[in-house]
Amino acid sequence: MNTPIDLRSDTVTLPTRAMREAMYHAELGDDVYGEDPTVNALEAQAAAMLGHEAALFVVSGTMGNLVAILTHCGRGDEAIMGDECHTFHYEVGGAAALGGVPIRTVPNGHDGLPALADIEAAIRPDDIHDPPTRLLCLENTHNRCGGTAIGPEPFRAACDLAHRHGVAVHLDGARIFNAAIARGCPVRELVAPADTVMFCLSKGLGAPVGSLLAGPADFITRARKNRKMVGGAMRQVGVLAAAGLVALDQMVDRLAEDHEHAQLLAHGLAAIPGVHIDPSRVHTNIVIFEVTDPLAFLQRLQAEGVLGVYFGGQMVRLVTHYGITRADIEATLVTVRQALRAA
Ligand SMILES: Cc1ncc(COP(=O)(O)O)c(C=O)c1O
Repeated sequence: MNTPIDLRSDTVTLPTRAMREAMYHAELGDDVYGEDPTVNALEAQAAAMLGHEAALFVVSGTMGNLVAILTHCGRGDEAIMGDECHTFHYEVGGAAALGGVPIRTVPNGHDGLPALADIEAAIRPDDIHDPPTRLLCLENTHNRCGGTAIGPEPFRAACDLAHRHGVAVHLDGARIFNAAIARGCPVRELVAPADTVMFCLSKGLGAPVGSLLAGPADFITRARKNRKMVGGAMRQVGVLAAAGLVALDQMVDRLAEDHEHAQLLAHGLAAIPGVHIDPSRVHTNIVIFEVTDPLAFLQRLQAEGVLGVYFGGQMVRLVTHYGITRADIEATLVTVRQALRAA
C-alpha cells in the first residue's frame, strides 16, 4: 500500500533534510549550565521574533504552558481559560495537579476568544472567600474552535481587560505563526499585548521536538527554575534546537501553503453530499466538519489510505501540513466522496 495521506495533525511532520544536517553539525554544550550555543541562539532568535526580552526552550507545548502557569501563579491562585482550550482539555490537568492552580473556565466564542463580559464576570473580587484571579490564558490559533485565527484588535481588548484588573495574560500560541499569516499581521504585533507566549516548533514548522516560552527576562529566569523542577532541563539539547533554528528560518512563510490546501479541502468538502462544513470558518490549516457516522467514516477513509481524527459528536478533523500536496488534497476529496457514497 502507498504511504497514507496523514491528515491527523501537523505534529506528524518529519524534519527536513536541512534540519537533519543542522542537527548533525550543531555546536553543543551543557544547557543546564547555559553553555549550549545552539540553544542560546534559538532562545535569542525566538525572543526577537516575538518581541520579548527572553525565551526558554522547552520539551513540548504542554510543558511550555505548564511552566508558564507555574511561574505566573502560586498555589491557590486561579487561572481563567476558555472551556474549549487545549490547556483545559488535553494537558492532563497539570496546572491543578502539579501547581495547585484551580482553573475557572468561560465559554469559548466561535472564533476561539471568550466574550469580554464573561472574562470580566469570572475575575474574582478581592474577597476573603475567593481564590485570587492571577492569570488569563488565551489560545491562538484555536485548535478545538477549528484553527481560528484571532485578530489583533479583539486579542488586545481581552488582554487590556485582564490588565485593568491586575490579571496577567499567557498566550498558548502553539500555532501563532499560522495566526499571524492568516491575519496578515506581523507576529510581534499580534502577541504584543500578552505578558507571555508559548509557541511550538514541532507542529506546522516541522521540527521534531520543542516549543519556546517567551516573556520578560525576570519571568524567564523564574520559568527556567520551574522547567528544572518539572524535569525539563536538558543537556546537549542543541541537537534539537538546531532543527528549531532551521524551522524559524525556513518554515514560517510556507505555512501559507498549508492554509491554501485547507481552503481547497474545505470548499471541496462543502460540495460533497453528507458533509456539513462552513468553509468561511476555516482560517488556517485545521479543517473540522460533520458527517452522520464519523467513526465508520474514518475507518473507511483509513482503509483507502487517508488518516484523520474523530473530534467528538459528529465531528472529524483533518489538518494540512508540510509534506501534504495539492494532489493529496484532491485524492482526499475523491476518497471522502466514495466513503460517503458507500455509507
Ligand atoms: C493549541 C495547542 N496548545 C498546546 C499543544 C501542546 O503541544 P505538545 O503536543 O507539544 O505538548 C497543542 C498540541 O497539539 C495544541 O494544539
